Amino acid sequence: MTSHPIEERNPGEWQLTVRVLAMPADTNPTGDVFGGWLMSQVDIAGSILAVQVAQGRVATVAVHEFQFLKPVLVGDLVSCYTELERTGNTSVRVKVEVYAERERDPRTVEQVANASITYVAVDENARPRKLPALS
Ligand SMILES: CC(C)(COP(=O)(O)OP(=O)(O)OC[C@H]1O[C@@H](n2cnc3c(N)ncnc32)[C@H](O)[C@@H]1OP(=O)(O)O)[C@@H](O)C(=O)NCCC(=O)NCCS
Repeated sequence: MTSHPIEERNPGEWQLTVRVLAMPADTNPTGDVFGGWLMSQVDIAGSILAVQVAQGRVATVAVHEFQFLKPVLVGDLVSCYTELERTGNTSVRVKVEVYAERERDPRTVEQVANASITYVAVDENARPRKLPALS
């Protein structure tokens, strides 16, 4: 089993939230994996943690940072790790780090992106809702 650097660095703080294989359908016209596909995986991962914290529906309100550090290739196993960065009255800010386990060499795991995203807890009318008390 391949160990992921982030698990070694921050045990207990980060959680593996999304793991997905980059497929040929995820490429742009030149055959590289499309950056928008990776942004989508990151938004999904961040929203999963935000929904856990908000205990219900959230909406993405801002992407503060998004860096593509290395390319993602077809066949790579892409893992998104999330960490709660901060909470406000209605908002949840999440850090996401993305690692790719390379198909050509499964022993190689490289960080390919990082991001910081804010989600807002919303009610049934899609208006901001106070976060529940954190335990
Ligand atoms: C999310 C939404 C309901 C918030 O409504 P709003 O009237 O802007 O709400 P508020 O001004 O009361 O802000 C709510 C919280 O969001 C935070 N927030 C709003 N804009 C922000 C921004 N650009 N960056 C960081 N935080 C922001 C506020 O600080 C506040 O946090 P707090 O309550 O923890 O202090 C509204 O902006 C919306 O519907 N946006 C579209 C969401 C969406 O469709 N997302 C998917 C895009 S594909």
